[in-house]
Amino acid sequence: MEYSLEERIGNPDLFVGRKEELAFFLKWIREIEERKSKSTAILARRKMGKSALMERLFNITFDKNGGVIPFYYEVKEGKKWVVDFCQDFFLTFIYQYIAFKSRKAIYLKPLIEPNFDRAKQAAAKEGLDYLIEIIEGIEHASQSGHVDLLWQSVRDMPKAVAFIRKEFIVQIIDEFQFLNAMIYWDEAKTRLADDLAGGYLSTAESKTAPLLVSGSWVGWLMNELITMLPARFRFTPLENMPEDEAVEMIFKYSRFFDVPVTEETAFLIARLTEGSPFYISSILRSQYRDKDLSTIEGLSKTLEFETLNDRGEIKSTWMEYVTTAFSRVNDRYAKNIVLYLCKHKEREVTRRELLEKLSLDMTDAELEKKLKALVKADIIEQGRSYFYYRGVQDNIFGKVFRGVYQDEIEDFEVGEIGREYREAFEKLKKQYHRLQGKYNYQKGYFAEYLILSQLMYHARKKSDLLKSITHNLPPDFEFCDYSRVWSYRYAPEFAEGFSVDIYARSRLAEGYSIIGEVKNRDKKKFSKDEVLEFEKKLKQIVELEQLSPIVDFIFSREGFTKEAEEYCLAHGIAYTEDPRWLDI
Ligand SMILES: Nc1ncnc2c1ncn2[C@@H]1O[C@H](COP(=O)(O)OP(=O)(O)O)[C@@H](O)[C@H]1O
Ligand SMILES: [Mg+2]
Repeated sequence: MEYSLEERIGNPDLFVGRKEELAFFLKWIREIEERKSKSTAILARRKMGKSALMERLFNITFDKNGGVIPFYYEVKEGKKWVVDFCQDFFLTFIYQYIAFKSRKAIYLKPLIEPNFDRAKQAAAKEGLDYLIEIIEGIEHASQSGHVDLLWQSVRDMPKAVAFIRKEFIVQIIDEFQFLNAMIYWDEAKTRLADDLAGGYLSTAESKTAPLLVSGSWVGWLMNELITMLPARFRFTPLENMPEDEAVEMIFKYSRFFDVPVTEETAFLIARLTEGSPFYISSILRSQYRDKDLSTIEGLSKTLEFETLNDRGEIKSTWMEYVTTAFSRVNDRYAKNIVLYLCKHKEREVTRRELLEKLSLDMTDAELEKKLKALVKADIIEQGRSYFYYRGVQDNIFGKVFRGVYQDEIEDFEVGEIGREYREAFEKLKKQYHRLQGKYNYQKGYFAEYLILSQLMYHARKKSDLLKSITHNLPPDFEFCDYSRVWSYRYAPEFAEGFSVDIYARSRLAEGYSIIGEVKNRDKKKFSKDEVLEFEKKLKQIVELEQLSPIVDFIFSREGFTKEAEEYCLAHGIAYTEDPRWLDI
């Protein structure tokens, strides 16, 4: 699948999971046509995958070419003059609109810098003459010096176009909080326009061009939205990934960036990071020189580097939060408070406890104000009421924080953190072996990924063996060089969201591509109904991807029912239960 808008994730195949969110938001976008969808804010800290998700939503909506026109704009970090900003915002909208209408993706990434004249030419060339007047209007406004009027027109333009043309537009605005934090009324950038977002009061109610915004400054943005745009937005957090998606992400990144993991370490990473895409991608792409993610020792060292070293992505990202927070709440008590909450992160702590335990020399009201500011900056969390607070609920932030501040406040030995990671991994390892024990096997907890590696790296060398342990392959079958080997999750937009475990696409036109299903954690034999189900999915993929020739392949550890086997034999489906497929 090729996507039109270039995604920052790089290779589009790297996108993993987010199945539930994709299904939810695609439905939300679909329902814009029924005027049912209410403006929504996706809130999550940096690097949780908001942009990845939003860009994918854009692309799916763009390619679907249905009744909703997608507009994606990221408000960048960094100071900007409002006139420059408005031009960029407006031209991005116009170019994306022209791209959608003309079905020419080139407008999404124009070779020449967009400007008003070029936009007019493009509109004329694509037969969208009604845009020309609109572009001229904004061109004049941007020369008039009435910057507030300029922002008003630009801001309302997607909604206005939707209205005039009787169309539907989804306005996806990434990092919405920067509207109020990065844009200046004057060219010298001395007067901050701190209420641009507030202008969305009526636009955000639009049912024909609703907003889907994101924000990384969760506490701050929520506060702004609640005060400036009351009841205009629904809030949706973007959480960590569920375990199956986390594991898929680990194996995918492992293969793509050529960083080996084992089944065991993949499990350990998934559990320790609790499925945070930020932590997973930081670990797999870590700059640590001796990175070895195939052993507990190597894994601990990599995490230690990420946690304590300034070049660690994890540390540097967290320190951005901490630095902004402390620039607003500037004193040493703040550090003690955060440290205390980190140490007791398993429970909520009251203000009274903080006052007593840390002998804070301040009134309860002063403490409340300070805590509120820390919550707003996302480095502590609100508890069940305004009297309760707690530390960030993950396994890593506390260690980053201690690494930086603990020795300032208390005696502290840095080696402690590496030790703690090792201990955590040893504990998780026991869980892993218990789970394996439950299924009574040593290998193949994540069988689909072992088979994918088998196909990618070893199949051609071990061709005779693998062929001999697989039933019903076509007589002329050979393993070949595969251009991509992933599990395949197709955009839920086109069919009921479906996935297959194995999707190995042959590089050569005449080579067999393989589409397969893997069943390893089920004590039942593979049934005929399941084969039929698999065949249905397969047909859709073959159609979508125009694959030929292909081999349908099923691996089932518990084997097959008699009917299933007969069906496979009669319908040219290759099948196997041989665990040697998992030896890599
Ligand atoms: N669904 C996903 N599949 C694969 N990688 C992801 C996914 N979501 C996030 N990532 C990884 O995490 C990084 C940060 O994601 P991004 O979307 O930029 O986060 P945010 O916009 O929330 O700051 C991406 O560059 C990518 O490496
Ligand atoms: Mg982003």
